[in-house]
Amino acid sequence: MFILDLTLIFAIIFVILIVSTVIATIWASVPFVPTPRKTIDAMIKAAELKGDETVYDLGAGDGRMLIRVKKKYPNITAIGYEIVPLVWFMGWLRTFVSRSGVKLKFGNSFKADIGDADCILLYMITRLMALFAKKFDKELRPGTKVISHGFQFKDREYIKMIEVPGMLGMTRVYVYEW
Ligand SMILES: C[S@@+](CC[C@H](N)C(=O)[O-])C[C@H]1O[C@@H](n2cnc3c(N)ncnc32)[C@H](O)[C@@H]1O
Repeated sequence: MFILDLTLIFAIIFVILIVSTVIATIWASVPFVPTPRKTIDAMIKAAELKGDETVYDLGAGDGRMLIRVKKKYPNITAIGYEIVPLVWFMGWLRTFVSRSGVKLKFGNSFKADIGDADCILLYMITRLMALFAKKFDKELRPGTKVISHGFQFKDREYIKMIEVPGMLGMTRVYVYEW
């Protein structure tokens, strides 16, 4: 009887997790697609970090970008936001196991307080890039680096574009100074 109750509770939690994940993914309109390691490394190199900065990933997925940057620069503050429950949970586990000290928060990036950012990492879609541009105009300090995997900001010049060879051809990384 007790085992049956426990199974039912786990089944309910599982269904809630799956349903909320589907709803959040549809709402966010960007699926979780991780950035390949080579591209992450190109983004980290492009960030030209000194080692004491505050770095955000606004749509952090499973946190892999921040874990990699934090491993390279252990004294940075690395903060990620992820809105899809299951993806965030996978990321939470990954950051916990990595013992990297990455802070992966469950929530909406558009509500994040990013005024202390020195560098923002992004892998989004064109429609959301326009919304992020508005947020960055209001909140970022002049000179903050924004490094975007694959997608550009409309009406803004990048300072550098890097091409990274991948399995499906070249991937582009765009570097902006806000
Ligand atoms: C293309 S994936 C990139 C993941 C990770 N940054 C990487 O490059 O490996 C984009 C992620 O952003 C999340 N996302 C989309 N909109 C968001 C929002 N408003 N707030 C937080 N996360 C969001 C999605 O759920 C998805 O996991």
